[in-house]
Amino acid sequence: MSIDAAPVVAGIRVVALEETGSTNADAMARALAGEALPFWLIADRQTAGKGRSGRSWISEPGNFQASLAVKVHCAAGQAAQLSLVAGVAVIGAIKTLAPQHGCDNLYLKWPNDLLVNNAKCGGILIETASDRTDGGMIAVIGIGLNLVSHPEIQGRRVAHLGGDVPSATQCTYLMAIAAAMLSALEIWNDGAGFAQIVARWLAAATPVGTEVAIHTGAARIEGTFAGLADDGALLLRDKSGRIQRFTFGDVELQAQAGTRAE
Ligand code: BTN
Repeated sequence: MSIDAAPVVAGIRVVALEETGSTNADAMARALAGEALPFWLIADRQTAGKGRSGRSWISEPGNFQASLAVKVHCAAGQAAQLSLVAGVAVIGAIKTLAPQHGCDNLYLKWPNDLLVNNAKCGGILIETASDRTDGGMIAVIGIGLNLVSHPEIQGRRVAHLGGDVPSATQCTYLMAIAAAMLSALEIWNDGAGFAQIVARWLAAATPVGTEVAIHTGAARIEGTFAGLADDGALLLRDKSGRIQRFTFGDVELQAQAGTRAE
């Protein structure tokens, strides 16, 4: 991986590996073992990539899989906000690298999916642990992007960004994402600036009014996307017109019912 040429990005140290199980698991283990924060850990391949809700994340060589380990100073309940912080950063970085991804085909989908042409091309996984040395919190922000290829997943619409950004390498993406992440984390300011993050996230998301269904595990509720609550929860206008609030679940775009963009 050409990342060796840039051992520091946006002022943050980079650990670059050919292969690891999961960049999130590896970064968290290093942070808990006392490795100085912050740092990025990027790998060309993952053998046990982790997705949301216990799913696995298939990382084919040449795609982007990296995790940022940082110290945060927010209430435990606010750490999930980092998912939206990272979404804002990643979509901003991709739009910088690929100007042809205008506003019409690249979107964020709650809580942390990146869609191109309504198919999932990236995901974000936040993991936290308390730092026993000072009572603060370690956050690992994991980002997976299908750059050059994507796995075929039964019943899911999956895509990669590849052809649109032919000259962009993992290293180019890391530099752009690291800079955007630094700026998004500054705006977030340990939760104090979350309202600004929500506004930016909404501006980059599937439009309000998009027909969606949310799967909560126990139920599937159809309606339209009605934006986000102040705390980042999903708002859905159900068939009866009532606004329902969700803090977890998988959102399916109704236009592709039966093939979820994930
Ligand atoms: C999702 O399910 O959408 C989240 C996927 C997150 C995948 C990334 S790849 C880099 C980091 N390391 C992991 O094991 N997972 C995240």
